Amino acid sequence: MRILVTGGAGFIGSHVVDTLLGAGHEVAIVDSFWTHGGGRRANVNPKAQLFELDIRDAKLGEVFSRFKPDAVSHHAAQHSVAISTQDPLYDADVNVKGLLNVLMSAAANKTGKVVFASSAATYGTPQYLPIDERHPQNPESPYGITKMVAEHYLRYFAASGGLQFTALRYGNVYGPRQDPNGEAGVIAIFTGKILQRQPIRVDWDGEQQKDYVFVGDVARANLLALDKGNGEVVNVGTGVGTSVNALHGAIAAAVGHDVEVVKAPKRPGDVYRCVFAIDKAKSVLGWEPQTPLADGIATTAAYFRANP
Ligand SMILES: NC(=O)c1ccc[n+]([C@@H]2O[C@H](COP(=O)([O-])OP(=O)(O)OC[C@H]3O[C@@H](n4cnc5c(N)ncnc54)[C@H](O)[C@@H]3O)[C@@H](O)[C@H]2O)c1
Repeated sequence: MRILVTGGAGFIGSHVVDTLLGAGHEVAIVDSFWTHGGGRRANVNPKAQLFELDIRDAKLGEVFSRFKPDAVSHHAAQHSVAISTQDPLYDADVNVKGLLNVLMSAAANKTGKVVFASSAATYGTPQYLPIDERHPQNPESPYGITKMVAEHYLRYFAASGGLQFTALRYGNVYGPRQDPNGEAGVIAIFTGKILQRQPIRVDWDGEQQKDYVFVGDVARANLLALDKGNGEVVNVGTGVGTSVNALHGAIAAAVGHDVEVVKAPKRPGDVYRCVFAIDKAKSVLGWEPQTPLADGIATTAAYFRANP
C-alpha cells in the first residue's frame, strides 16, 4: 500500500514509518518540524519521501494528489497538554483544523482509510479501572478535548463520505527517539537525567501508576490497523500499571547507577492510577504488546547512551 504518515519525523510517527517500510509498504511523510515537537531530521527514514509542510497548509491537497495514498497514519499534532492549556487556540488550530485539512484532502483524493493517534487524555480521571473503550470521555485539558473532537470528525467522515478510520487511544508511549527534554515522557526524562548523573524530580509520592507501552508495539498496532478495526476506537496499552518509583528503579538498573531524587508536589491534573483494558485490541486488531517493560527500558537506555 501507499501510506502517508503525518508527523513521520516525530517520536511515534518515525517508528510507524520504519515499521510500514519494513512490511513492504511505500511511505511518504508530511512534517513541519514544529519547534516544540519531537520532529527531528535524524528520525526521517531515507526510504520515505519527505514533504516538509504544515498539515494546515492549503498545499496539503497537492501532496495527496501527487502521492495518492491508500491510507493515512495521522500522527502530526500539537502533542503537549501544557501547551494546550496555555494556548488552546493554537492547540485547536493544529489538532482540529489541521485534522480537517487531512480528512478533506483524503476524501477528495479517494484515500481509503485514516489511522488516528488518539489518547488516554480523552477519558479524563478514570471512573473505573481498567479503562475500556466504553469508559465515558470527560477530557480535562484542551488537548484531550481536541483529540476527542477528532474522533467525532472521523466518525462523521466515515458516515458521510466512506473514509474508513481506526482511532488508536495510546497509553503512555515510551522508547527510543522520545524527547528527554519534554515536560512529559517520564521514561525518556529519567533516562536522560540518570545517564548524565543529574538529580531526577519525583512528583507526589511516586506511587502514581500509568500504562507504559513500548513504541515498537504501538507502531505494530498501526500496521495492523491498516486493514483491520474499521470504524473502531481501540486502546493501545499493556493492561499493566507501573509506578514512577518502579520506573526509577528499573531505569537505574538498566543504566547501571542511580542519582539523587528531588521530591515535588502533585502536578495539577495528574491522575493517581490509569490502566487500560486491552482486550479489544486483541479481538479487533489481533494485537498484543510484546515488549516487557524491562526490555523496553533497556532498549531506550541503550539508545540514549548512543545518542546523548
Ligand atoms: N507520546 C505519547 O505518549 C502519546 C500518547 C497519546 C497520543 N499521542 C499522539 O501521538 C502523536 C505523535 O506524538 P509524539 O509523542 O510522537 O509527538 P512528536 O512531537 O514527537 O511528533 C509529532 C510530529 O508532528 C509534527 N507536527 C506538529 N505540528 C505539525 C503541523 N502543524 N504540521 C505538520 N507536522 C506537525 C512535529 O514536527 C512532530 O514531528 C500525536 O498525535 C500525539 O498527540 C502521543
